[in-house]
Amino acid sequence: MPDPVDEEVIKSANPAAFNAIPRNCTSNRNNQMKVSIIGGGGLVGSCAASALQFGGIVREINLVDVNQDLVEGQALDLLHGASLTSDQRITSSGADGAKDADVICITAGLRRKPDESRLDLINRNVALFRSILGDMKKHGYRKDAIVFVVSNPVDVLTYLAVRELELPPNQVLGLGTVLDTTRLRSMLAQRLNVQPSQVHVTIYGEHGDSMVANWSNAQIGGLPVDKYPGVTPALIAEVEKKTRGSGAEVIKKKGGAGFAVGVSIADVIHNIALDRHRILPVSSLQNGAYGLHDVCISVPTIVGRRGAVSHIEVELWPKELTALQKSGQVLRETIDKVLGG
Ligand SMILES: NC(=O)c1ccc[n+]([C@@H]2O[C@H](COP(=O)([O-])OP(=O)(O)OC[C@H]3O[C@@H](n4cnc5c(N)ncnc54)[C@H](O)[C@@H]3O)[C@@H](O)[C@H]2O)c1
Repeated sequence: MPDPVDEEVIKSANPAAFNAIPRNCTSNRNNQMKVSIIGGGGLVGSCAASALQFGGIVREINLVDVNQDLVEGQALDLLHGASLTSDQRITSSGADGAKDADVICITAGLRRKPDESRLDLINRNVALFRSILGDMKKHGYRKDAIVFVVSNPVDVLTYLAVRELELPPNQVLGLGTVLDTTRLRSMLAQRLNVQPSQVHVTIYGEHGDSMVANWSNAQIGGLPVDKYPGVTPALIAEVEKKTRGSGAEVIKKKGGAGFAVGVSIADVIHNIALDRHRILPVSSLQNGAYGLHDVCISVPTIVGRRGAVSHIEVELWPKELTALQKSGQVLRETIDKVLGG
């Protein structure tokens, strides 16, 4: 597959050869995407915007936020670097800016108050999220838009978006365990002194306490992880534990996650923009894979321009399958509590 620069050369020199290039993956002709980030003034939204700018794949990055000064400042700061990064349009706007977006990424969310219970925070975030969905309905959205939820509790809010928006369920995705997965891969690589891109292990289930690391299919550079030199059950348990506590650790040390969640969001959006059909652990509505029904949760999912194209079911260790189904139950119970079933 030629890179985008090569394509321009081929196009002018040999239009027939240009037209013969397959278009189902990395092609510069697919990059006509407008991405709106609702909550784009905040830490997560602005880091996602920065990652999309470095990616240089989408055409327009539109930041939407209720804090007008903040969002204008973020857009201006990004724009100032445009001549050294990517030829993209950078804009800020009110809620109406998302009406013609191809991808609407929602990162607006509230942080926990001192002494507030997890459930109270969930209830406040559900109310905020409902108002954002209300804004979207008021201003309209494209019928082929992909709605990509990042705000927490991400699986519950993804389910709410599926239920309240008039979109096919495959067009609603949540970030799910994409961030947890890159945390695990990157930290395991550091412990073993190997390249992070060669560590293949994925987390599925809830983006939360009941997440499930899929060690039965884990590999390092194509080799089984449990046979890799230096890997012990104790090391695996230690890195997994550190991954589970990563969100809290980053919040404690710097106030909230930014860079890693930003690149995680951009990775999913680039897969949509380029219709790549790669398998990612995004959250989407389940209809039977792994025995999961009527809940949004992460399982291996093919992601493309139509969103969650399909779910892939492979054999897991029995204890992994049980844990994944338990994770689905945990989410179903939370949905019943906060959305009333
Ligand atoms: N899914 C994940 O892996 C993951 C990872 C990290 C953070 N998060 C979640 O992302 C969310 C945002 O975190 P943050 O650190 O960026 O918070 P933040 O406070 O920095 O930013 C939130 C932004 O949302 C804006 N906002 C509030 N109400 C709005 C509305 N109605 N319309 C538009 N914008 C609105 C605020 O003005 C603010 O700029 C939180 O829910 C957090 O838990 C998810």
